[in-house]
Amino acid sequence: MIVVTGATGNVGRHLVQNLASAGEWVTAVSRRAPAGEMPGTVEFQQADPARPETLKPSLDGADALYLLVPGDGAGLDPYAILETARAAGVRRVVLQSSQATATRPDSPAHTRLRTFEGAVRESGLRWTVLRPSGFASNAYMWAASIRSGRTVAAPFGDVGLPVIDPADIAAVAAEALRDGSHAGRTYELTGPAPVSPREQARAIGEALGAPVRFVEQSRAEARELLLRFMPAPVVDSTLGILGEPTPEERRVSPAVEQILGRTPRTFADWTADNIVAFR
Ligand SMILES: NC(=O)c1ccc[n+]([C@@H]2O[C@H](COP(=O)([O-])OP(=O)(O)OC[C@H]3O[C@@H](n4cnc5c(N)ncnc54)[C@H](OP(=O)(O)O)[C@@H]3O)[C@@H](O)[C@H]2O)c1
Repeated sequence: MIVVTGATGNVGRHLVQNLASAGEWVTAVSRRAPAGEMPGTVEFQQADPARPETLKPSLDGADALYLLVPGDGAGLDPYAILETARAAGVRRVVLQSSQATATRPDSPAHTRLRTFEGAVRESGLRWTVLRPSGFASNAYMWAASIRSGRTVAAPFGDVGLPVIDPADIAAVAAEALRDGSHAGRTYELTGPAPVSPREQARAIGEALGAPVRFVEQSRAEARELLLRFMPAPVVDSTLGILGEPTPEERRVSPAVEQILGRTPRTFADWTADNIVAFR
């Protein structure tokens, strides 16, 4: 049995479906119940990683754990979570980390994820660390302005980054959870090609069959808006990645193709699957 934390999230809901399709017994864990029907081999259990003791009933008898660090990870104790898993008999853990733990070694926004990576590697479990680039699903933040006015406002309109479809992160995670050959590996995961915010807006317009206008924000405008949703260190690190990406952050990683045996999904693929959010 495989336990998936963050089961209602961008990666988690694909991962639950993926594992169930492969015939695995899955315990889907989050604070809220997932919307809609779940496959017959999936059981939902409510738990909060901020209180590791609430995870224990899910972890008892599990073989593997997908560990997501929700929000900014504040209040989470990775050592307590992993010790709860180890004591419950879990043998394998796959951590959803971030490319920025490596590319932004001094970023305070990624300190928690770096601590989680260290704890996973020291846990005594067979571990795999996934370091994805920015998610295609971050485009959901434009959904309201596209629905109401067919407009995207974003900074750094022509800076392209190889954003990844969360479905690909889930597909790699499913492999790592089921197949021991990924133990001890850290994978940088990206999409197939850099795509800029202006190109993303165009792709959404094409999928809608109606043009989407792109309005370039200044860095200060973007910062002010993002501060409504994220703490300042996360905003500054995000703007640094979006505006002044390092060569590593611009690069396409071969890992998704090597692990899945197919090219990563494009931003247009993600858009086609999620267009209902923008109608
Ligand atoms: N977005 C990106 O571009 C990106 C890139 C690289 C790495 N990451 C990493 O991926 C992780 C998040 O991915 P995501 O943004 O796509 O998340 P998400 O899927 O939106 O969130 C996953 C789940 O976590 C729970 N959650 C959300 N906020 C929470 C909070 N404050 N406390 C406790 N639970 C919370 C929610 O489930 P319930 O409410 O049902 O519990 C949610 O469904 C983070 O560790 C982030 O650093 C993100």
